[in-house]
Amino acid sequence: MLIIKPDAVSRNAIGAILKRVEDKGFKIRQMRMTRFTREEATRFYAVHEGQPFFDGLIDFMSSGPVVPLALERVDAVSTLRQIIGLTDSAKAAEGTIRRDFGTTVQRNAVHASDSSETATWEIAFFFGENA
Ligand code: RTP
Ligand code: MG
Repeated sequence: MLIIKPDAVSRNAIGAILKRVEDKGFKIRQMRMTRFTREEATRFYAVHEGQPFFDGLIDFMSSGPVVPLALERVDAVSTLRQIIGLTDSAKAAEGTIRRDFGTTVQRNAVHASDSSETATWEIAFFFGENA
């Protein structure tokens, strides 16, 4: 699962990010544009509750439209983490999505699932159990 975050959407980077993903061999199985309410963002990021960055994260993720995508590929989780780069856009390697389309640790252009189990849960969150 990939989510194009509000900073990248407002920067008109949806198309460029989709191109990187497709060029890497991912199939787009589900995609939509939506906006997190604060309640939904809090539920989605519940694992980070109590972290110092939590309130800022919820503010940011509910600040504008996002584009969640269910993606399919061999080694999807590790391949996607590789092409997005480190969490902090300023520290992400050249040529990664976060380096090229994000700006800071919070405004880092995309979210990607960190395991197949979380990917399944996150895809169900946006697209339902039968996605
Ligand atoms: P993501 O979940 O969005 O793919 O990012 P990640 O695994 O690389 O990073 P994670 O530790 O899961 O953090 C989730 C999101 O919280 C924001 N964050 N801010 N200010 C900070 O120190 C800080 N640390 C994390 C980022 O937007 C990060 O993507
Ligand atoms: Mg994470």
